[in-house]
Amino acid sequence: MSKEGSKTLHQPDEVGQSMPILAIKDVHKSFGGLKALDGATLSVEKGKIVGLIGPNGSGKTTLFNVIAGALKPDSGEVWFKGERIDGLKPYEVYERGLVRTFQVPRLFFKLPVIDNILLAGRNQIGDTFTKVFLKRSAWIEQEKSLIEKALSIAELLGLSEVLTQPASNLSGGQMKLLELARALMSDPITLLVDEPAAGVSPLLVENMFKKIYELRREQNLTIFIIEHRMEVILNYVDWVYAMHKGRVIASGPPAEIIQNKQVIDVYLGEAT
Ligand SMILES: Nc1ncnc2c1ncn2[C@@H]1O[C@H](COP(=O)(O)OP(=O)(O)O)[C@@H](O)[C@H]1O
Ligand SMILES: [Mg+2]
Repeated sequence: MSKEGSKTLHQPDEVGQSMPILAIKDVHKSFGGLKALDGATLSVEKGKIVGLIGPNGSGKTTLFNVIAGALKPDSGEVWFKGERIDGLKPYEVYERGLVRTFQVPRLFFKLPVIDNILLAGRNQIGDTFTKVFLKRSAWIEQEKSLIEKALSIAELLGLSEVLTQPASNLSGGQMKLLELARALMSDPITLLVDEPAAGVSPLLVENMFKKIYELRREQNLTIFIIEHRMEVILNYVDWVYAMHKGRVIASGPPAEIIQNKQVIDVYLGEAT
C-alpha cells in the first residue's frame, strides 16, 4: 500500500508483515559492573527509516558499536540480511553493506573534502600498486566513475561548494554531512547514523534530515538513526524505538512514542 506524501509511511500492522533486514535479539554488554546493554531486542525493516531515541547513557551508541562489530556482545544475537553477524570484525560487517557513521565525525581533517569522499570508495584498483600498472586503463576508468559518484553525492548533500577545502575548515554540521557522504560512497545497504544532529544548527538539521529522507527513497536504503531529542526526528522516521538503561522500553510510530508515558517519564527523569 503506497502512502505517497504522508510523513509516516506505514501503519504499525504493515511493519509487522515485512521482513526485518536487521535484527537484534536479547543483546547484553557490560563495562565492568555497568550494564550498558541489558537485553536489547529490536528489528529494522528493509527500506525504512527507523529512529533510536533515549536519554544520554541509555546504551544507543553501545548498541551501534555491537551491530557494527566494534564491540562483541556478552550475549545475544545480531542478524543482518538473514545472517548472524555478531562477533564479526568491523570490516566484515562493512563488507556486507552495513555501514555506520560516528557521533563524533572521523575524517581526514587535513585532506580536501573531495578526497575524504573518494577514499571511501570500495575495491579501488589504485589501492594495489601492481594493479595500477597491469590494469592501467581499467584503473583510469574506475577513477573517473568514482569521481562522478563522489561529485553527485556531494551535490546531494550540499557539499559542492566546499569540495577543495580541507575537512578541518567545515562547520560541525558540514562535517556530519561529510561523514554521511563517505558512508554513501561505499554503497551501503543499511546505514547506521549516530546523532547526526548533535551540535548542528537547527536549520541545517532540518535540511540534513530532508536529505536523509530523500536518500532513502532514491537509493532504496534502510536507515537506522540515533537521535537524543525525539522531536527532531519526529517528521522523518517511520518507526521509533526508545531505549532506557540498555533495553527497549517502547516502540511504535513517532506520533505514538512522543506521547508514551514511560518515554516521557525517562526524559523528564533525565531533566531533573
Ligand atoms: N567503552 C566504554 N567503557 C566503559 N563504559 C562505557 C563505554 N562505552 C559506553 N559506556 C557506558 O555505557 C553506558 C551507555 O553509553 P552509550 O551507549 O554511549 O549511551 P548513549 O549513546 O545512549 O548516550 C554509559 O553509562 C556509558 O558511560
Ligand atoms: Mg551516544
